[in-house]
Amino acid sequence: MSRHKLKKFAENEARGNIIQPGKELFEKIKGHWRTLYFGNEHPLVLELGCGRGEYSIGMARLHPERNFVGVDIKGDRIWKGGKTADRENLTNVAFLRTQVQLLDQFFEPGEADEIWLTFPDPRPKKRDIKRRMTHPRFLEIYRRILKPGGRVHLKTDNDILFDYTLETVDRMEGIGQLQHSHDLYQSDLINPLLEIRTHYEELFSEQGFRIKYLTFLFD
Ligand SMILES: C[S@@+](CC[C@H](N)C(=O)[O-])C[C@H]1O[C@@H](n2cnc3c(N)ncnc32)[C@H](O)[C@@H]1O
Repeated sequence: MSRHKLKKFAENEARGNIIQPGKELFEKIKGHWRTLYFGNEHPLVLELGCGRGEYSIGMARLHPERNFVGVDIKGDRIWKGGKTADRENLTNVAFLRTQVQLLDQFFEPGEADEIWLTFPDPRPKKRDIKRRMTHPRFLEIYRRILKPGGRVHLKTDNDILFDYTLETVDRMEGIGQLQHSHDLYQSDLINPLLEIRTHYEELFSEQGFRIKYLTFLFD
C-alpha cells in the first residue's frame, strides 16, 4: 500500500466523523445514530456509494437541520469527506465505511428518512445485474431501513442503469410518487439540492453526458 494511502487510513482512525471497523461506534451505532452520534432528533439522510462525499457535504451545508451519513467501502475516498467536514465544522455529517449490502447491521428498520444514490457503478454486464445498487435485493434493504414514506433519489450519467432502475421500480409493489428526467438540468425537477455536483458528475458532464435523475418513495 502506498504511503499516501497509509497516511489517510491513519487519519481516518483518529477522525471522529469516520465510523469504520475497529471503532467502538461501528459496533454500537445501529438504532442509535441520533442519540450516540448526532445528539439530536433531526431527520437522517444517507448517501450510498458516496465516494469522496461531495453530496453529503453539499447537503449538510444546505441543511443544518438534517443529519447526513455518507456510506462507502473505500476508506481513502471517505477520508476526503471526513476531512472537509472537520475543516468546515459540519457536525451534521458522518461517514460510515461498509458495504451497502450490510446496511441492516447499521440501521434499525425505519431509522433513516431518505436515501441518495449518487453515480453508482453502472455494472453494465448482464452477469453483474445483481450487483447494481438498484437491483431489487438492494431496494428491499432500503425499504427496510427507511421509515414508511421514505424517499429514494438516484442521479446517474448512465442510460443502462437509469432505464434498468425505472423498469425495476415500475414493476415493484409499494412504490409511489415516481418522477424522473433523462436530462435533469433541462427539466423542471431541478432545485439547489439537485445541483450539487460530485466528482463523477464533473467527470461525465465534461464528457457531454446528460445527467439523469429519478425519485420515488416507499408507501
Ligand atoms: C462511481 S463511484 C461514485 C462516487 C460518488 N458518489 C461520486 O458521484 O463521485 C461509486 C462508489 O461506490 C462505492 N461502492 C461500490 N459498490 C459499493 C458497495 N457495495 N458498498 C459500498 N460502496 C460501494 C465505490 O467505492 C465508489 O466510491
